[in-house]
Amino acid sequence: MCGIVGYIGEQNCVPVLINGLKSLEYRGYDSAGVAVLSGDTIGIRKTKGKVDNLSNLLLNEPISGKAGIGHTRWATHGAPSDMNAHPHFSNDDKIAVVHNGIIENYQELKAELEKKGYVFQSETDTETIAHLIDDYYKQGHDILESVRKTLERIEGSYALGVLCTDYPDQLIAARKESPLIVGLGKGENFIASDIPAILNYTKKAYILDDKELALVKADSVSLYDIDGNEIKKEVYTYKWDVEAAQKSGYDHFMLKEIYEQPKVVRDNLAQRFSEDGKSIELDGIKLGRAELENINLIYIVACGTAYYAGLVGKYLLERMVGIPVNADVASEFRYKEPLIDEHTLVIVISQSGETADTHSALKLAKSKGSRVLGIVNAVGSSIARDADDVLYTLAGFEIAVASTKAFSAQVVAMYLITLHIAMELGRIDNDTFEEIKQAMDLLPKQINDILTKAVPKIRRFVNKYIGSKNVFYIGRGLDYVVCMEGSLKLKEIAYLHSEPYAAGELKHGPIALIEEATLVVGIVTQEALFDKTKSNIKEVKARGAKVLAIAMQGNRSIEEVADDVIYIPRTHWMLTSLLANIPQQLFAYYMALELGEDIDKPRNLAKSVTVE
Ligand code: M6R
Repeated sequence: MCGIVGYIGEQNCVPVLINGLKSLEYRGYDSAGVAVLSGDTIGIRKTKGKVDNLSNLLLNEPISGKAGIGHTRWATHGAPSDMNAHPHFSNDDKIAVVHNGIIENYQELKAELEKKGYVFQSETDTETIAHLIDDYYKQGHDILESVRKTLERIEGSYALGVLCTDYPDQLIAARKESPLIVGLGKGENFIASDIPAILNYTKKAYILDDKELALVKADSVSLYDIDGNEIKKEVYTYKWDVEAAQKSGYDHFMLKEIYEQPKVVRDNLAQRFSEDGKSIELDGIKLGRAELENINLIYIVACGTAYYAGLVGKYLLERMVGIPVNADVASEFRYKEPLIDEHTLVIVISQSGETADTHSALKLAKSKGSRVLGIVNAVGSSIARDADDVLYTLAGFEIAVASTKAFSAQVVAMYLITLHIAMELGRIDNDTFEEIKQAMDLLPKQINDILTKAVPKIRRFVNKYIGSKNVFYIGRGLDYVVCMEGSLKLKEIAYLHSEPYAAGELKHGPIALIEEATLVVGIVTQEALFDKTKSNIKEVKARGAKVLAIAMQGNRSIEEVADDVIYIPRTHWMLTSLLANIPQQLFAYYMALELGEDIDKPRNLAKSVTVE
């Protein structure tokens, strides 16, 4: 939800800002803009649309300077437009601001500022920040103090970058509930919503915490708390290299990330088993027998794809451990007074670690005394920092808005957690553990096999059904969860209406929508439920549906009812979700490709949903 970047140093900042904004486009791409200090003026260029539009604008109306801030927007207050694009600026053009977050009390502040004579040019909440800083500045405070005083007045979330013409050697940054880092270079420093924006220049950064400010100069960075006291922080060194944030020859990040899955799964497995392979080690998380015996309920909370990974965990934990498991999307959980206490283990799952609803759910769970285990991909993110225990999913950067490799890593995390709890509580024996471990060890190669073999078949199927407007996904048990994820992927990148249904529910209503040539994806990897789902597929076939089935190798009788079948390699029943999902990712990808959609940046979406 919006990305910000800033630079101060010896180079012309404009290319640095543009490169940074391009890497941050996954956070929003409704409009983009830069503010650049040059001499005693700030030059502002901003425009509706993607960063490429901004680059074109800068070609026609160039600016340059050694300090600047930039922004790529996911619109909340005010439609995507040139005027609502950031940076916003004070009426005398002396102060420019970029902002990621939401100012909840902006209407009161706006009314107050208008009474004082401030004229608003945009419909955004952010513009109040520029005028409020200006108001304090005009009262005689220096720019840092003016920003600090402004932060005391605003309610909501922010990551901010501020420039002022009277302080050409500095930029100011601040954060609360929206991520922000201060990148540390040699004779140059940066601010950014996320490390890919500055990875070309540095891997070292301060990760700002809530209500912290940074005064950033070319050769120094000073950090302050919200009361104005100077503070010290450790420098964090990111391990990723520049390549991780590039497409590396793939047409889209999504495709690159799909193909990275064998490695992601291998990395996760390599680091999670003890040396003798007989137990699981979860980054030192203290969930031993004593802690687990204190738990009588597990609650899994997340959003979108991460929630579906959580649902896989719910099925597995209930079946293999025998503890009741509730699962909720975070936006529901946080407003429903959940029945949780100190005997509840709350598992929150998030790729970005910044999803606002999931973060709030975490805080609610902690306030009720529950222990919170975070399954997080982004190191040092808000959720990772606030959870009691963190299991990192080791998926590396995920840049495409549609989550693929992060989902697989989250599902593997659920496998590991289930096995760990089941072993600690004595719910499975060593032989079962060994059997599952052996099956898990095969997963990277099996994913690779699917990626190699399934693509031609899927492309043929996509070409056959390219005109479809509605797609149904049906399955039972764990297969039903896979349907939910497959359906979401198709919606978000191919813009096709699709519905996931528990196959047994079809007769209770949705089968009325099946007509000649309606496309149905049937997931049938659960041996115990095979005949049941096969019957449901027969029912939709009888009403004219065209069916793509995803089944386990060996279950060839599915060909009697399906038009096309993708087989996944045989595996243990608890591991099928991971494999069955891979063809679905490819199906959504190639469907979107054939339809000519913008796969990595689907409309209306952003990768990291930092507003509720
Ligand atoms: O960063 P998070 O895992 O918390 O994000 C949760 C959802 O916003 C995310 O999974 C979303 O549904 C994806 N775009 C799905 O592909």
